[in-house]
Amino acid sequence: MTREHRAELLRHCGFVFWLTGLSGSGKSTYAVQMQKRLHLCGMAAFILDGDNLRHGLCSNLGFTPEDRSENIRRVGEVAILMAEAGLIVICSLISPYRADRDRVRASCRRDEIPFAEVFINTPLAVCEERDPRGLYKRARAGEIKDFTGVNAPYEAPEAPELEIRTWESSMDASLAALMDLATGLAREYPRQPDAGPGSGI
Ligand code: ADX
Repeated sequence: MTREHRAELLRHCGFVFWLTGLSGSGKSTYAVQMQKRLHLCGMAAFILDGDNLRHGLCSNLGFTPEDRSENIRRVGEVAILMAEAGLIVICSLISPYRADRDRVRASCRRDEIPFAEVFINTPLAVCEERDPRGLYKRARAGEIKDFTGVNAPYEAPEAPELEIRTWESSMDASLAALMDLATGLAREYPRQPDAGPGSGI
């Protein structure tokens, strides 16, 4: 069975959608809304969320630069496998280091999996104001060390496929832009002359 056969069955190819941004920037909200919209359009999507994965696959990792790198590497490799299986994989992780995100991009290129980096750009002050779990407050009080944006860096993407400026774009407009990008990638059926859709089954 080839990737082409799976794409033919699902009517779209698998790809990796990488949402990066500060804690509280809205990544998970966009991921959930996108998954819902894709599903309604008949596309099979699955979310890999940093917060959840850190309970299982990445439970032995902390927040040092090395551990974050390993976190991103692992999630990236899992995302590639799932995309290979035909799914649209929406990854939602802070992924603060440019080099780590670039490595996932390179791994996707290696395996010929379409990849899009999406910068969920919400100013630190807004994230801190929202602070749904009180983490910024605790970080400012010195109770959490190496907290992204407070006492650990966030390296914004320089050339993401899409930037959502959450303070000036409505949720609807942002989702429309995300869906445009996603449906474009979903049409990228990998074509091989000897294994095109419908051949050899
Ligand atoms: S990443 O930096 O390695 O990409 P990831 O997205 O998996 O991070 O996890 C981020 C989540 O972990 C945050 O949303 C927050 O709930 C929690 N967290 C706990 N400690 C930290 C910290 N020091 N920095 C950032 N997030 C933290």
